[in-house]
Amino acid sequence: MIELDRVSKRFAPSAPPAVEDLSLTIDDGEVLVLLGSSGCGKTTTLRMINRLIEPTSGTITIDGRDVQSMPVHELRRGIGYVIQQSGLFPHRTIVDNVTTVPRLLGWDRKRRNARAHELLELVGLEPELAKKYPAQLSGGQQQRVGVARALAADPPVMLMDEPFGAVDPIVRAQLQREFKRLVKDLGKTVVFVTHDVDEAIVLGTRIAVMQTPGHIAQLDAPADLLANPASEFVHDFVGNRTVVYDQAGNASGYKLETPFP
Ligand SMILES: Nc1ncnc2c1ncn2[C@@H]1O[C@H](COP(=O)(O)OP(=O)(O)OP(=O)(O)O)[C@@H](O)[C@H]1O
Ligand SMILES: [Mg+2]
Repeated sequence: MIELDRVSKRFAPSAPPAVEDLSLTIDDGEVLVLLGSSGCGKTTTLRMINRLIEPTSGTITIDGRDVQSMPVHELRRGIGYVIQQSGLFPHRTIVDNVTTVPRLLGWDRKRRNARAHELLELVGLEPELAKKYPAQLSGGQQQRVGVARALAADPPVMLMDEPFGAVDPIVRAQLQREFKRLVKDLGKTVVFVTHDVDEAIVLGTRIAVMQTPGHIAQLDAPADLLANPASEFVHDFVGNRTVVYDQAGNASGYKLETPFP
């Protein structure tokens, strides 16, 4: 369980806060989506969890341990991080990219290679790609490598910053489907950042709608968010999406009603 308690971040004393008084609990095994417009503080929130950014005030705990009290390398060993725009090292091969963390952990080459091949298969990439460089791969393939790299040391927690942002809608839907299966099979706790409402609905166990400056406007399961937006801001953000109920009265889907302009 990850807990943020009244966390704020100011990048400069005179600057407005990027994140303000944000409290949030992420349960084990859930996919918690941070949804919001550009600049609302999603990346900042994510990066405070693995301490790439230090909060100005407030506390963050993982399983009851204050992350500030943990050595950074120990903290990050338990947290996979997928960066906005895949963030692969351009001069390293795919296999070397994927095994970045195992190399830091001192695994020998044989074990690293075996793990890399396992991971490439897991994320649906051909083993032949292992020796290539990131620029030789398509955008969707690169994003898969980014996910494989984050999974390499089998961390219980994954932080994912718009991991499927740079691909076309068809590849994106495919990556989302595979991601859902993967998370379910591997039992990870995921904090997933996106500004795409539909992606949030499809992937999230719960969605935290963020509003500038970095605080939560509403936190709910997708169907509840659509059915009962807590404010005009949330209503406008989720747009004309209405929940569809089955005969038993359970939320079974949603539809988008957009008139032609
Ligand atoms: N290193 C930094 N120094 C100064 N200001 C920063 C820094 N990083 C972020 N900010 C500011 O903090 C605010 C939140 O930024 P953040 O990157 O968290 O937004 P975001 O929600 O991830 O946006 P996007 O969807 O565009 O990625 C913005 O106003 C941004 O300009
Ligand atoms: Mg961001």
